[in-house]
Amino acid sequence: MVKTSAAKTSAQAKLAVEEAVGEVETEGMPTAPGQVPDSQAPGHSVGGQGATGFAGGSQGTTSDGAPGYGFPIQPMPSPGGAKVLAVTNQKGGVGKTTTTVSLSACFAEMNLRTLIIDLDPQFNATTAVGVEARQLDTSIYNVLVSDIQIEDIIEPTAFKNLHVAPSGRNLANAEMGLMNMLSRERQLQQAIHQVRSEYDVIMIDCPPALGLLTVNAMTAATGVVVPIQAEYLALEGVEQLSHMIRQVRMSLNPVLELTAVIIGMYDARTKLSREVAEDVRRHFGEKVCEAYVPRAVRLSEAPSHGQPITVYDPDSRSTKVFRELAKEIIDGAS
Ligand SMILES: Nc1ncnc2c1ncn2[C@@H]1O[C@H](COP(=O)(O)OP(=O)(O)OP(=O)(O)O)[C@@H](O)[C@H]1O
Ligand SMILES: [Mg+2]
Repeated sequence: MVKTSAAKTSAQAKLAVEEAVGEVETEGMPTAPGQVPDSQAPGHSVGGQGATGFAGGSQGTTSDGAPGYGFPIQPMPSPGGAKVLAVTNQKGGVGKTTTTVSLSACFAEMNLRTLIIDLDPQFNATTAVGVEARQLDTSIYNVLVSDIQIEDIIEPTAFKNLHVAPSGRNLANAEMGLMNMLSRERQLQQAIHQVRSEYDVIMIDCPPALGLLTVNAMTAATGVVVPIQAEYLALEGVEQLSHMIRQVRMSLNPVLELTAVIIGMYDARTKLSREVAEDVRRHFGEKVCEAYVPRAVRLSEAPSHGQPITVYDPDSRSTKVFRELAKEIIDGAS
């Protein structure tokens, strides 16, 4: 184990999206101690299938660390430092990990100190950057549910400026482990706090679910990046995702923004790809990145070599697109 130098330290969907990408909402936000809207009541669920209810601080702690019983949520004081982007979409296999790893490698190439946090028990992002998750004693799981500090699990990669906070199989137990913890939604936010100044960008690869791990990612993040496949039913679940972003922003993390929507597996030769891309643009507007990630065999091969596409095939069209996306996103992210 290696220590960093860190001191330890989619008409309905559209409406939902517009709400999600809008300004920080004040409507319904508590205005005085003791006042709390339903959405922040203890155990309030974001609703919808597969979503995990989370308590907007009410079962958690207030800013001074005292148990919260309906007091207004105070955002964690920001130490500055890294932009923290949660790459999420509850649909499986839409390119979250590919996006996380490829963008991270591009940020690293840009000389930005980059950390990937692998928040998926499948540990695909960990493997994709050449780190053997199975050989590690500890993972992000231990950081979330015990006293292990994140800098104690961070591993360097073979790629300059690129570190990973690995996942492991035990992360599958994290939701249960977190369930009875105070400030269960803030475990990752608190962990990241210690290393934010050490990095320029932190990318969080989320599992394909809107559960407590994803809530932790959104609560720790400054922005959300949503990969969408240019395929049939691309916008399925987008309403629920937008709802969750809005709920997290209202209850846990007022600075959270929808940073970017990335269209992937795009094949310009097919009418379906073009129509889906148009549809996504109608729903998300300017949040959709200009460049589309092509469907490319080389992209699917790269992880098995433990290399990001920028290294596996540096001159490929995919690499070029991810470099463009990285620039677009880093310029636009808050
Ligand atoms: N643009 C692409 N062209 C070809 N294959 C791709 C592309 N993007 C991703 N893939 C492949 O599709 C599969 C799913 O991609 P990926 O693992 O990135 O999705 P995911 O959303 O992270 O999946 P999960 O929900 O299981 O975590 C992988 O085998 C990946 O290599
Ligand atoms: Mg994945």
